Amino acid sequence: MQSIASRPIPRAKSLPYLGVALDLRVDPLRHFLNLYHELGPIFQITLLGRPIIVMAGLEANRFLARDGETYFTSEPLFGGLAQEMGSDAFLVALDGPAHRHQRKIQQRGFSRDTMQNNLGVVKQITYDFVQTWSVGQRLPFFPTLQRIVTDQLGMLTGGRVCGDLFDDLWALLNTNMNVQVLKTHPKFFLKLPKYVRSKQRVFAFAREVLEWHRANPPVDREPRLIDDLVAGVDENGRPYSDAMIMSGIAGAYFAGMDTVASTLSFMLYSALKVPGLLERLHAEIDGVWESEGGLTPAALRKMDVLHATALETLRLYPIAPFTPRTSTKAFEFEGYTVPAGSEVYVANGIPHLLPEFFPDPEVFDVDRYSRPDQPKTPHAFAPFSLGAHTCLGAGAAEVQMMTLIATLLRTAQLGLGQPNEVTIFANPLPNPGREFAFRFDGMRKPL
Ligand code: HEM
Repeated sequence: MQSIASRPIPRAKSLPYLGVALDLRVDPLRHFLNLYHELGPIFQITLLGRPIIVMAGLEANRFLARDGETYFTSEPLFGGLAQEMGSDAFLVALDGPAHRHQRKIQQRGFSRDTMQNNLGVVKQITYDFVQTWSVGQRLPFFPTLQRIVTDQLGMLTGGRVCGDLFDDLWALLNTNMNVQVLKTHPKFFLKLPKYVRSKQRVFAFAREVLEWHRANPPVDREPRLIDDLVAGVDENGRPYSDAMIMSGIAGAYFAGMDTVASTLSFMLYSALKVPGLLERLHAEIDGVWESEGGLTPAALRKMDVLHATALETLRLYPIAPFTPRTSTKAFEFEGYTVPAGSEVYVANGIPHLLPEFFPDPEVFDVDRYSRPDQPKTPHAFAPFSLGAHTCLGAGAAEVQMMTLIATLLRTAQLGLGQPNEVTIFANPLPNPGREFAFRFDGMRKPL
């Protein structure tokens, strides 16, 4: 008789070669949830000819948090991107001591405190965009929010908005995510003249930002992420190369243009869509804004409905429903052996939709977090993934999202356009597509 561990891992039925590629283009989390219910906590899929092992459920999240560093590497996933950026030390592609060391250097620049110290900038940039809108204008959620978010993160980390460079940054990030990270597009995309020109412009910009920071050290201003990279040394005490710092500069602009912008799109959509939520948010934001004399870190901490709206959005619309990795050595999981060298997706978003952790999981319920019987299971909520590479900007992202939505809802009268039901596209990260839009109905209150 075969021992349990040597039994073949259950396999999802799918098309030859393409595998689940078409299924993953829309709402990959709920596709994995169906497979989890059908096949259990570990199963195998095929994606464009590659076998991938999916680990799903609370135990998978625990494994990633506890043992991820021992059994997984991120290098095969992000190494191509690092190479494309000319960097030999790109944070997301590093493992072990080099990774831990560089994470410490980048911690301050990406922290909640840094975002809170820059609340005025986040507010002002949001308001500046609102003031360019005309009454009745239809604004696509995702591209509109991408522009706002990227300018904010640019100011925060490098003191520069990205402005007209946005399309080049987006081309660089998106092409590399598709070609290098998720490997859904062929390599020749990296040779296309349009892409190559975008890459050159991003590198020229990053060089300018680097030189400026070298020439203007933070003597009479707050240090930023770029200053910390310029002053930092690697785990062996050697200064980081210019290419590494420049990739860190581009990385800082990349950090939110998919993640924060997409989450914010779903958050604003939910605020406008969930019955009664907009009225509650308006009442809370106006009340706290006026009693606290504006939107301060202290005011944000009093906005419980807004905070719960952010949490429910991260739970129901996680932009990283799974964390891709490669196993460095064989291990046992739920009675099966995962061989060394396997491509593995840890579907960290699955517990978000399981009723044992979130009763009535598909209901967007901002009151669930204040209910005494809401289970508080460690690792069940994992929108920022888990373990060594957990999002370094999670605290900053929360503050940024709350500030941006509070500013939008305070200053602008917004409504849902038609169609008013969102689809979760994944290209490559989940987002509402580039067309789905809200409507600007006029100014509401001054900043
Ligand atoms: C809603 C917003 C965000 C979400 C959902 C999110 C999600 C994630 C996830 C899932 C990872 C892990 C990737 C992996 O392990 O393969 C990650 C990593 C990272 N995130 Fe975020 N992120 C968000 C916003 C931000 C922001 C605003 C910043 C910067 C201010 C940021 C900085 C980073 C960095 C530097 C890493 C790499 C950490 C490492 O490799 O050690 N993120 N993020």
